[in-house]
Amino acid sequence: MPPLLDPAALTVDAGQLQAQVDALAEFSSTPAPGVTRVLFTDADMAGRRYVKSLMRAAGLDVLEDAVGNIFGRWHGTAGLHGRVGTGSHCDAIPDAGKYDGVVGVLGGIAAARALQAVGFSPRRTIDIVMFTSEEPTRFGIGCCGSRLLGGALDADALARLTDADGVSFDAARRAAGYSADYASATLKPGDYAAFVELHVEQGPVLEREGLDIGVVSAIAAPASFSVTFRGEGGHAGTVLMGERRDALVPAAALTCYAEELACGSDSPDSVATVGMLQVHPGAVNSIPRTATFTLDVRDTSLAARGGIVEALKRRAQELAKERRLECAFDVINEDPPADADADIMAAVEESAAAQRLRSRRIVSRAYHDALFMARVAPMGMIFVPSKDGVSHRPDEYTSPQEMANGAQVLAATLARLAA
Ligand code: GLV
Ligand code: MN
Ligand code: MN
Repeated sequence: MPPLLDPAALTVDAGQLQAQVDALAEFSSTPAPGVTRVLFTDADMAGRRYVKSLMRAAGLDVLEDAVGNIFGRWHGTAGLHGRVGTGSHCDAIPDAGKYDGVVGVLGGIAAARALQAVGFSPRRTIDIVMFTSEEPTRFGIGCCGSRLLGGALDADALARLTDADGVSFDAARRAAGYSADYASATLKPGDYAAFVELHVEQGPVLEREGLDIGVVSAIAAPASFSVTFRGEGGHAGTVLMGERRDALVPAAALTCYAEELACGSDSPDSVATVGMLQVHPGAVNSIPRTATFTLDVRDTSLAARGGIVEALKRRAQELAKERRLECAFDVINEDPPADADADIMAAVEESAAAQRLRSRRIVSRAYHDALFMARVAPMGMIFVPSKDGVSHRPDEYTSPQEMANGAQVLAATLARLAA
């Protein structure tokens, strides 16, 4: 086996990485400083072209699968089965920042370049992946690309998802130029020997503790639901209060109850959010006939999450009964958590220490593509600090050096895993 390279010799050009992050942020459907890049919109397609151009410039072979997951492939020298994967996503929720996901994709390409610069040749093939639609913005469910790869989403169900305009996922991917058979995308266990994702922390821990690197030990379990109350519309002036079947009031009550349950939970990691709400017909002077909203509930403890969800379902039915409404409480996703692989965590820790970077183990409360890659490969994640813990906002920030630190640790980790 060739000698392990010296991780301290790996350098990522922080200025160049920042310039690429800034260049990608230009592809947005809303004005700066916010970034909006929704799946298969013009901004997303332009961002994809840019990422592919960076992959090609780094000498990587570019491949795309049935749903537009993009792979920058660096062929290994040993012909071994089981690639080493890294990567993240470049789609961005409405009015997001520049760094969420992007650091893992552009940092992955930078890591490959850093390894090339010291003459490293991987024995195992290394893939830098840009996953399709990690964010749930367009089709309502997150991690479409990695769910399909990891076998966590049935291809027929994915194809049938529709966006707010009634366009199916299948029609959208075809319009974007992706038409291969879905089955060809799904991975088999063993296709990846390891997967490690670099990402911004999106929380305050590393910055608060003055640390450079988070070694993710587990990813919390996300769940989301679509809830609809259906009542009776009518004139806001003429229908007296006692006769109303207003659909919005119970939606508001359930939103408050979700907050109450998460705040009162024994688990410190319980969180619950109503992030979208549509009221029909939606006029100042009209009683809401339907109210449809999303519920996002997460926890590191499945039992705690389950308790909150069950209580919310019960309360939704009670509210509907009390107010003579119909209620539909539909599951969008209920995913288990994932543990990181002990060897990958050790590889990240040793890589950070060799570069004199300070690290700690940390739980990811956000979900990531790594959650679904963990179903088919040993998984790890590397976090870098987020200023004030802010994310999913235009003022999200990670400094050029912090990003470069993460990419350097990623490079050293990939070298260990692919050597
Ligand atoms: C990912 O964007 C998440 O919502 O955790
Ligand atoms: Mn995100
Ligand atoms: Mn992300």
